Amino acid sequence: MNPIDRQKQAAGAAAALEIRDGMTVGLGTGSTAAHFVAALALRAQAEGLDLRCVSTSKATAEQANGLGLTVVPLDDVEWIDITVDGADEIGPGLSLIKGGGAALLREKLVWESSRRCIVIADAAKVVATLGAFPLPVEVVAFGHTATARRIRDAALRLGLVMEPRLRMRDGFPVQTDSGQLIYDLACGALPDPSALAGALKSITGVIDHGLFLGLADEALVGGINGVARLAR
Ligand code: A5P
Repeated sequence: MNPIDRQKQAAGAAAALEIRDGMTVGLGTGSTAAHFVAALALRAQAEGLDLRCVSTSKATAEQANGLGLTVVPLDDVEWIDITVDGADEIGPGLSLIKGGGAALLREKLVWESSRRCIVIADAAKVVATLGAFPLPVEVVAFGHTATARRIRDAALRLGLVMEPRLRMRDGFPVQTDSGQLIYDLACGALPDPSALAGALKSITGVIDHGLFLGLADEALVGGINGVARLAR
């Protein structure tokens, strides 16, 4: 395991210690969240914890089911006690860019149903200003090139110059778990993430974007000296 992966694993293991018997737990998506799911499954088995989990993606649900965790649909729960998920960037005030794994919509739906959200990451994810990581935006497939032009123009009005890039894999557009498309916006530094978040949400073909603002309650960040806890 490389040093970055060890940091992710340490953050995931620290987050697993936050889970108590009887909780409903939101499971994130991505390589860091996968470490959390593995650590949680080990704890649940060793300590006989009675947990219900809600997954943010098909991939995580598959991993969790395979490890013996009980996964239920979001619609079956009134609220989630705690959600643990990764991020692509952690900025000031625990503002986040998420969606590098194309799961941003389900992630946000699960986060917004959660009483407490913990973001877990390796130290390289902590940044002074969001935006070096291209911002993922989930877009309705119908008319997506027209929507991409509207996104470009809305960003330009905020002084952000870029051409939205349709995310591709093996020569085909990446489809999200909800069957939609992802555009990545390489805007560079985002001095006002909430202005961009608002502008994107006002475009009809945009389903959601990877800016998670005011949602994370705390962060557990793996580093060379162990795991640091950051508060909002
Ligand atoms: C999934 O869509 C993302 O939001 C992930 O949480 C994010 O990309 C972090 O992934 P890693 O933990 O693999 O870096």
